[in-house]
Amino acid sequence: HRDLLGISRLERHEILYLLAEAEQWVEFNHRSKKRSKALRGLTIINAFFENSTRTLLSFEIAGKRLGADVVNMHAAQSSVKKGETLIDTAITLNAMRADAIVIRHGSSGAVELIASKVDCPVLNAGDGQHEHPTQGLLDALALRHALAERGEASEDFTGLVVTICGDILHSRVARSNILCLTALGATVRLCAPPALMPAGVEAMGAAVFDNFDAALDGTDVAMMLRLQTERMNGQFIPSAREYHHLYGLTKHRLDRCAPQALVMHPGPMNRGVEIDSDVADMLDRSIITQQVEMGVAIRMAALDVLTRRARGVAGWNDGE
Ligand code: CP
Repeated sequence: HRDLLGISRLERHEILYLLAEAEQWVEFNHRSKKRSKALRGLTIINAFFENSTRTLLSFEIAGKRLGADVVNMHAAQSSVKKGETLIDTAITLNAMRADAIVIRHGSSGAVELIASKVDCPVLNAGDGQHEHPTQGLLDALALRHALAERGEASEDFTGLVVTICGDILHSRVARSNILCLTALGATVRLCAPPALMPAGVEAMGAAVFDNFDAALDGTDVAMMLRLQTERMNGQFIPSAREYHHLYGLTKHRLDRCAPQALVMHPGPMNRGVEIDSDVADMLDRSIITQQVEMGVAIRMAALDVLTRRARGVAGWNDGE
């Protein structure tokens, strides 16, 4: 692959390869001096057409720790605001001879369109409701580390039950996680208000629930998602108070899960709506901050691997 557009494009062995590559960067990021020369002389453009805290910053940190020159384009301060089309923006970025372009966009498929117009690797940092592949990968890495810390080290997630609850309809995180987790052998349960459950998810190998208590019964991992009100278009959803009553992860509800079940959230969190603070902050159960930490390592691995061909380094893109 030249690009990282979605987990759906990756084979299981490629997912495992990226996770294995990220391990060296987890170690590296614990050093006091965190500067590699691997990508020295390369230019990475982060083009974000939607807001971001975690993804933008971690891609920027990842690129800089690898020694690349990193520049950020925020759509709000760009010529997109003057009516420039997405294709013209892509052609403009391409003319600057970037060595990799990281893109977040509010429309599903926009990242693939840009990838078709440029000559360098493109990394999808979240496109509409479609995919957020580095989130799926970082969640898998965080889960793997949390299980290893408990002495349950395993290359994949065979036998693990993961319940993803929230606004599944609008969630690119849910989609990438369903694909990544099922590829690695986990059983995935999905829970959402009926209006926020997309059709066809069973075909992706997930089981559908609208009762959260039933979805949590015996689960090993509860992955909570926020309501993406900015993407809603007339769907009926409960009020924040009703939503919390029906779908909020409380300490009481956590007791329905398997003993020592883990709690995940990709962020940003709406505390008191989809997750209570006393659950989000449980040091022995919640791995939310570890997810953020793994995000830097996964993005370092993705940037390293996808720029190998340009650097004349063997691996990944060989033969394609
Ligand atoms: N999880 C995630 O994508 O967060 P940001 O929107 O802050 O990047």
